[in-house]
Amino acid sequence: MKANSSMLDFMVKDHGRMYGMLSNLRMSLGRSFVNADEKIGYLDAFMKREEAHVYIEEVLIFEYNNDISKVVSLDVIRKQHLEIVKSVKSIKEDLLEGRDCNLGLIRLQEFMKEHLKLEEKKFYPLLDEMLSEKQREDLIRRVSAFEDRPKQGVLKRFIIKFLHIL
Ligand SMILES: [Fe+2]
Ligand SMILES: [Fe+2]
Repeated sequence: MKANSSMLDFMVKDHGRMYGMLSNLRMSLGRSFVNADEKIGYLDAFMKREEAHVYIEEVLIFEYNNDISKVVSLDVIRKQHLEIVKSVKSIKEDLLEGRDCNLGLIRLQEFMKEHLKLEEKKFYPLLDEMLSEKQREDLIRRVSAFEDRPKQGVLKRFIIKFLHIL
């Protein structure tokens, strides 16, 4: 398999960027010289990134092919996505109420590690196996196109629907 047509390699890079963003967020939120508005701004930016990632996975990737859900149980991944979004929301509430959110962030980091491990050790390797090289290339193209130019309306509708389940 060519490295550039592996969904695993492609998504691992994205996961690395997201995890880095989360680590930076924890540092910024712990700093007294960063004001509350800036902290909210960083948290919102992370939430936006997370929402786009969840959309990419749940819509563009999970729904790419009907066989995907037959091979892998997507329920666990979906539940974890909800957990992540929920915990970012509750960290934001803590921040707005002036409560300490370090513990919430540590838990989120731990949970995120588990989630990324599940995707990188189980889901993406299986996905790579079941798709042909042509399909993998096509899927990577679709995901890149969305990352370069996210369709805000589509994303917004998905998030509203998604958050409704919370
Ligand atoms: Fe992911
Ligand atoms: Fe995910």
